[in-house]
Amino acid sequence: MSESTEVEGRRFPAPEQLTAEANVGPDVYQEASADRLAFWAQQARRLTWTQEWDEVLDWSNPPFAKWFVGGKLNVAYNCVDRHVEDGHGDQVAYHWEGEPGDTRTITYAQLKDEVSKAANALTELGVDAGDRVAIYMPMIPETIIAMLACARIGAVHMVVFGGFSADALASRLDDSGAVLVITSDGGYRRGAPSALKPAVDDAVGRTGSVRNVVVVKRTGQDVEWTEGRDLWWDDVVGRQSAEHQPESFDAEHPLYIMYTSGTTAKPKGILHTTGGYLTQVAYTHWATFDLKPDTDVYWTAADVGWVTGHSYIVYGPLANRATSVMYEGTPETPHRGRWWEIIEKYRVTILYTAPTVIRTFMKWGEDVPAGFDLTSLRVLGSVGEPINPEAWLWYHEHIGGGRCPIMDTWWQTETGAHMITPLPGVTTLVPGSAQHPFPGISAKVVDDEGNELTNDSTGLLVLTEPWPSMLRTIWGDDDRYVDTYWSRFGKEVYFAGDGAKKDADGNIWLLGRVDDVMNVSGHRISTTEVESSLVAHPSVAEAAVVGASDPTTGQGIVAFVILRESGQDSGDELVQTLRQHVAKDIGPIAKPRQIMVVQELPKTRSGKIMRRLLRDVAENRELGDVTTLTDSSVMELISSKLPAASSSED
Ligand code: WTA
Repeated sequence: MSESTEVEGRRFPAPEQLTAEANVGPDVYQEASADRLAFWAQQARRLTWTQEWDEVLDWSNPPFAKWFVGGKLNVAYNCVDRHVEDGHGDQVAYHWEGEPGDTRTITYAQLKDEVSKAANALTELGVDAGDRVAIYMPMIPETIIAMLACARIGAVHMVVFGGFSADALASRLDDSGAVLVITSDGGYRRGAPSALKPAVDDAVGRTGSVRNVVVVKRTGQDVEWTEGRDLWWDDVVGRQSAEHQPESFDAEHPLYIMYTSGTTAKPKGILHTTGGYLTQVAYTHWATFDLKPDTDVYWTAADVGWVTGHSYIVYGPLANRATSVMYEGTPETPHRGRWWEIIEKYRVTILYTAPTVIRTFMKWGEDVPAGFDLTSLRVLGSVGEPINPEAWLWYHEHIGGGRCPIMDTWWQTETGAHMITPLPGVTTLVPGSAQHPFPGISAKVVDDEGNELTNDSTGLLVLTEPWPSMLRTIWGDDDRYVDTYWSRFGKEVYFAGDGAKKDADGNIWLLGRVDDVMNVSGHRISTTEVESSLVAHPSVAEAAVVGASDPTTGQGIVAFVILRESGQDSGDELVQTLRQHVAKDIGPIAKPRQIMVVQELPKTRSGKIMRRLLRDVAENRELGDVTTLTDSSVMELISSKLPAASSSED
């Protein structure tokens, strides 16, 4: 019998008990560090290339990296066709389940036909390699088909999360110069159809580059129609041939743009390319989750509209020939056991989700999952924010039956794939810590000057070597790419924006963002973006936004606003109006949890808003040092406003 480990008074099975024959063993770390580039080249060979690369990495002009220089491949071929050619055409690629309970089963052979037809349709619509295609969709198979069709013809997809507003969509269409939008009439959420097409009509009407809008029929609700511009997916894709010859693209050909919040109001278009990205998402998906394509049923319970969906619903699982589950709706529709019912029904073996959802399930109580058979599960994953040990233990016990290892994976939109994570069957788990850099990845914790810290200290997380799935630039803005990520410690060190601690055993603990980016339910939202939305409202003169810790969502958005006219109504109604205004402007995920109307904001002598103090107020803490304030009575004013603050949830 192997020994078990004890953590916080609970016992965990030793790693070797967790999974009998894991895909990778402990020597993988040694192997990777002995020759990092050879290690990544070996992982790249898991893919099918039509032309082998001449050089694994060109880092002669940092921070602009080129991986697998001279290599050629087609991403869609790697994700779909080659599995069919290898005799796995009948294997299920996706068990899709709609929120109302309708289901679709899509095999690799069917996926190949659908992607080929969609690729032919894109070509018929004049979309060429390098053109940008926006995808604004619910969680339905056509979303994935559209992404793969773009990849197949070398068009660059730009998926915008369906929860974003028309404004957010418009600015992304503009910045990327998209020529086509693929959308649907709507999708199902919380038991009702929600519309998508109106936001597209609004956004496209304000931008110049979009020629056509292709609409998938999902809910059957009425949509406005612009003749000549709008086309039904069923018509334009339906009439195409299922034959399509995939062309090979350069390893550095752009694959997609994904917009993410930064420290300024303007979202950044993170650019990912072809060969390195697919290499790392495929390998990490296979190693971190111990994916066995013949027997596993894999489920990333996230939206395709985020990077987690791109890398671990679409590209990683498909490149590895996984059978996945895809679910359209929310966890509580029509009942709070919906996820567990899905796991029982499809015999899901690997579940990957976010701590915020786990904490919500904790609130609902363990009786809910206890009513379902979850014994098929063998590996669990977590992503998006630090998982607190309490949630980790609950997940381990009530979902994982005390037997499934939890992979707490740290990574970012920018990193494209897992960067820090334990490995199943290899790592002795420490609840709450993401633990070790992935093999072939160099992550360090440094002080403000960039010196590497020893164990038992706290500092900033940096990545000191380029990695295959790294972002290549910010779309259209190389300078911003350099400034944002590669200037704090020089051009060869990537500054992640996260604080981190190394414990006495060298495990890495992520401590949250050190910049003005909030993390709400695993979504990145910039304080500046919410502030600019608030000041754009006619009633608001000034606004300051902070992320306050929240037991369920990790952080909640708290705004302090100064109104334009003194004596103006500052009651609940205005607060609600402002919350709705932000929701409409950016999207419901950016709606402040709480808005406090104040007379003044605390500022330093140089005029900088002291967010630390605002955070103290928002979290009801004793106020810290206020000596640098221009007028410390400001804080009294703010504190005195607290009881009247509105914190209504809806
Ligand atoms: C946070 C999501 C702690 C972190 C894939 C990072 C995490 C940001 C973890 C990226 C984790 C993500 N532990 N924090 N396991 N995973 N984060 O771009 O602050 O939406 O910088 O990518 O989420 O968020 P993004």
